[in-house]
Amino acid sequence: MNDKLNLFFRLALVAVFLTYGVILLGAYTRIENAGLGCPDWPGCYGRVFAPTTPAQIEQAQRYAPRADISPSKAWKEMIHRYAAGLLSLVILALAIVGMQLQRRSHYARYLLPLLAVVLVIFQATLGMLTVRWKLNPLIVMGHLLGAFTILALLWWIALRERRFFRPVPVSPLTRRLRWAALVALVIVTVQIALGGWTSANYAGLACPDFPTCQGQWWPHMNFTDGFTLWHKLGINYDGGVLSLAAAAAVQMAHRIGALVTLLYVGGLSLYVIAAGKTHHLCRYGLALLIILLVQVTLGVLNVLTHLTVPIVVAHNGVAALLLLAVITLNHVVRPGAHEETTP
Ligand code: HEM
Repeated sequence: MNDKLNLFFRLALVAVFLTYGVILLGAYTRIENAGLGCPDWPGCYGRVFAPTTPAQIEQAQRYAPRADISPSKAWKEMIHRYAAGLLSLVILALAIVGMQLQRRSHYARYLLPLLAVVLVIFQATLGMLTVRWKLNPLIVMGHLLGAFTILALLWWIALRERRFFRPVPVSPLTRRLRWAALVALVIVTVQIALGGWTSANYAGLACPDFPTCQGQWWPHMNFTDGFTLWHKLGINYDGGVLSLAAAAAVQMAHRIGALVTLLYVGGLSLYVIAAGKTHHLCRYGLALLIILLVQVTLGVLNVLTHLTVPIVVAHNGVAALLLLAVITLNHVVRPGAHEETTP
């Protein structure tokens, strides 16, 4: 039983690291404009590997006569897909071990991994639609949010094993923090969705300056067009199709979201640092504050450097860390969590 529990925990951790890697690879693929590096799915020009040699490129051209073949873009896209494929296998293994533990353990050990399997299938479908519907922004944002949801779920599964970041005993402080931490989770999730909408619409360059946008505090913006979620099919969205006013609205919404996040999550972290001396609660506040400040700095650098690849990828990666830090805070102040016992 203990061996199985150890295996379950290790698989959950491996899945967390792999998901994080897949998220970084996804951001890299997108910012390198390689999202349509392979015009088909799940193969690339009908093959398991991206075309590399002149003969393979010629064969790929026959497969898709109108495609502008770029082996380097095709490889970026395929490496992202291989990593996602490997992750799916690890999550499947986690679900199988969870089911084997089912009889003697808590229901969450098999229900949560099964939910992860369902999410991975949904995520693969979105990945396919991303290619078929030529980077439709709603699908691209959904794909990003799907990845963050899987990461959050796997992290929650790992945290529940209570090998690290154990919940602290209930106290008036943890009672106060429960709702506050939940609100922080909602705010961070909305902010990540706004970021996903910004990148999916290529609105990152609509405001090339900071703190102003196009030299103004409140530029000409079109929120209706910027937040029309569904755009028609049959268009290639590579590079974005929004007007400057619509793209500026999207970028400004993300900036306002960042301000709200900074004030609320920053305030909450300071409170946890000041009030949480017992049970080392303050370290969770400190971690949250550092990650938040790094993320806001990377966001500003995104604008000032006009979306350089390492900054964009880091901004995406630290957004994921911010989500994990807020989830961890929710976990340690969770009601009754410290009373549960590991079977
Ligand atoms: C609390 C803070 C923030 C969070 C959680 C956050 C999150 C995100 C996320 C998840 C993305 C999508 C990344 C991707 O698809 O690769 C994004 C994109 C973006 N964010 Fe933020 N962000 C924050 C703050 C900021 C700030 C303060 C700015 C600048 C003023 C900013 C500017 C941008 C830009 C320009 C993009 C588009 C990048 C692209 O097109 O590749 N962010 N953000």
